[in-house]
Amino acid sequence: MSDAPRLICFAGSARRQSFNKRLARLAASNLEAHGADVTLIDLADYPMPIYDGDLENEQGVPEPAQTLKAQFRDSDGFLIAAPEYNSSLAPLLKNTLDWISRRESADEPPLAAFNGKVAALCATSPGGFGGLRGLVPLRMMLGNIGVHVLPQQLAVAHANQAFDDREQLVDEQQRQTLDTLSGELVKVSRQLTR
Ligand SMILES: Cc1cc2nc3c(=O)[nH]c(=O)nc-3n(C[C@H](O)[C@H](O)[C@H](O)COP(=O)(O)O)c2cc1C
Repeated sequence: MSDAPRLICFAGSARRQSFNKRLARLAASNLEAHGADVTLIDLADYPMPIYDGDLENEQGVPEPAQTLKAQFRDSDGFLIAAPEYNSSLAPLLKNTLDWISRRESADEPPLAAFNGKVAALCATSPGGFGGLRGLVPLRMMLGNIGVHVLPQQLAVAHANQAFDDREQLVDEQQRQTLDTLSGELVKVSRQLTR
């Protein structure tokens, strides 16, 4: 059996032209280059209603959330390229993480999608902070639900000028930081989960 860590890579945006999807695609190639078995997902393929306890009681966890949760359970870790909305997480990302944190049955271990997994965070935004402020609450939340969040991260400012026409990062320093972040995620997920 391959010892390649199984990693999920995704952006917290469903927008077709999302800058964070660009960053997630780049991160996925980097993770593969470092030897990971990567599944690049698009949250647009996992539509979920806004979490509502009554809805959950009546209809259970929505099928797309069940599917995504199973993918997380089968993974060793994940990388998120997270948009910043009003200095915090985007609601799509928060809602997705909330749904997949829910148990589907009493015998399911709590936080099975997250507990013991390793995560790397990055962000990009047209603004000057590059989404950095949104990574603070995201890091806190993930840490509180059992995820080992890497201390390294990357925030790419001025997203509309940060990528060239081949969708590569223009700035060499940012390319290197993404490569280091990806290498670290592969290394730590291998160390922690095998
Ligand atoms: C409701 C809302 C709030 C936003 N707040 C911020 C913000 O606090 N900081 C920031 O850098 N960009 C902010 N933006 C701009 C987003 O960074 C921008 O729309 C970005 O392109 C979203 O990521 P995406 O391209 O991956 O979809 C906000 C956008 C929206 C719609």
